[in-house]
Amino acid sequence: ASEFQLKKHHSIPKPEKPLLVVVLDGWGEAPDDEFNAISRAETPCMDSLKESKPDRWMLLKAHGTAVGLPSDDDMGNSEVGHNALGAGQVVSQGAALVDKALEKGELFDHDGWKYLEPAAKEHTLHLIGLLSDGGVHSRYNQLWLLIQGAAERGVKRIRVHTLTDGRDTEDGTSVKFMAQLQKDLRSLEGKGCDAQVASGGGRMITTMDRYESDWNVVKRGWEAHVLGEAPNKFKDPVEAIKALKASHCDGRRCKLQKPKEAGGKPVSDQWIPPFVIVDDDDNPVGPIQDGDAVAIFNFRADRVVELSKAFEYKDFKHFDRKRHPDVRFAGMMQYDGELKLPAHFLVPPPAISRTTGEFLAKSGVSTFACSESQKIGHVTFFWNGNRAAPFDKKLETFHEVPSDQNIPFNEKPAMQSAKITKLGIEALKSGKYDQVRLNFPNPDMVGHTGDLEATISACSTVDSCVQELINAVEEVGGTWLVTADHGNAEDMVQRDKKSGKPLMEDGKPRILTSHTLNPVPVAMGGPGLPEGVKFRTDLKEPGLANVGPTIINLLGFEAPDNMVPTLLSA
Ligand code: 3PG
Ligand code: CO
Repeated sequence: ASEFQLKKHHSIPKPEKPLLVVVLDGWGEAPDDEFNAISRAETPCMDSLKESKPDRWMLLKAHGTAVGLPSDDDMGNSEVGHNALGAGQVVSQGAALVDKALEKGELFDHDGWKYLEPAAKEHTLHLIGLLSDGGVHSRYNQLWLLIQGAAERGVKRIRVHTLTDGRDTEDGTSVKFMAQLQKDLRSLEGKGCDAQVASGGGRMITTMDRYESDWNVVKRGWEAHVLGEAPNKFKDPVEAIKALKASHCDGRRCKLQKPKEAGGKPVSDQWIPPFVIVDDDDNPVGPIQDGDAVAIFNFRADRVVELSKAFEYKDFKHFDRKRHPDVRFAGMMQYDGELKLPAHFLVPPPAISRTTGEFLAKSGVSTFACSESQKIGHVTFFWNGNRAAPFDKKLETFHEVPSDQNIPFNEKPAMQSAKITKLGIEALKSGKYDQVRLNFPNPDMVGHTGDLEATISACSTVDSCVQELINAVEEVGGTWLVTADHGNAEDMVQRDKKSGKPLMEDGKPRILTSHTLNPVPVAMGGPGLPEGVKFRTDLKEPGLANVGPTIINLLGFEAPDNMVPTLLSA
């Protein structure tokens, strides 16, 4: 037998009927509160699951060190959350690895930097990424250490292409980050380094698309960063952000720009239209040219894979690049290990291997994994340790439901949940799968818009989806496990750290668009679950990684040694 063949569980028999695994993206647990969209929502299903605590409902840590982040001040996110759930292990994540590589400047001794260095010194070093301290995709202190290190090593010309956040950080903070960057870049002038911001745009419409949901997003970024072309031109990047925010777009797509009088809201940081910085002659200060060095400073993969392809691939059909400069290109990490994308990277990515997905596939377990475009990679790529392809094509089906492209998530908070539910029920009843794994993006995607009423609606909707799915499991005699990857919807307001009271500004609460530090629920049940099986209470700090071995047990196997302990007492 292969080293991946799992052994039979000592007490749980291999179930004859399927196991349903549901991840409610961004569904955390917090006390009832007017800004808790989950407690405000009608959630009879999730409420009823809680009644089986402690035996079949418990809370899990979903942030900080429990999911491999540098510290317990770091909120959870979907990458690290799904990595932990699927790997059954706590792995040091990108954020921590980059911190370490920059701490003593090791990063500059690695192959990735050595590859960029000659081009960076002779021509220009371009740095592209998310400008914030969110710590989900990137972090400002890392960017600044990178810039300083490059300048110290003799790079004379640096151009930064900035995506504004407001999604992992509070809306409006982009002005502050841009002003900081401006000030820091200016401090290099005296040291003989000409460093400037060259282009930018809000992350949701510029560059940072994911899972090929909308290539137009990447196209806009390519035009601004590479070609130096954008609908908006400014001399000063701080002015750019201020002016574009005040230009009263309705907050989402540039093509939907509406004047304030027509009901438009000031554009939020996430949706700032793309811009380029120009000099006194109106020429862009930093288009990307042949011979330049280009690095993406995001460590997280999902939202920079597409841009990496646009730089790296000779044959490229997703949009017309118009010009494909011959550059030395590197990612902060290698974003896709199988595709070896990009070929050059500054820091080796976390090595996640021996995941639940690999063990189960190699032990003959069949799986149906499904979500909509915005999150499909979460239950496949992230779940399987940042690996896009199935381990065994015959046993694993990955089904993507296309996400809406032109409807803001808060205007249709149900998103594609009905389709995902329907496909899940069909898969459960088909008799073809041992495991059906679904992700509902709604609490997270709608939560990130900061629209409280829409998020309440999103939570009610997914609650009824879970009920429908559980009913189907009851019908077929299977087992179910429902959990989440991190908190988001359960707290929609910024709070004073000490008192926990909402922070106010001009008499209005300061909305929280990002994830939280809250724990998430996990519950299990179904007619297929043997009677005595319950959650243990002796784990000191149960976290998301403990779900991986639990799933393996529920499928009738002992978990392998490389995983953290199971949640089951059986
Ligand atoms: C995003 O990429 O949308 C946010 O930065 C994080 O959200 P996720 O971790 O839930 O995907
Ligand atoms: Co999120």
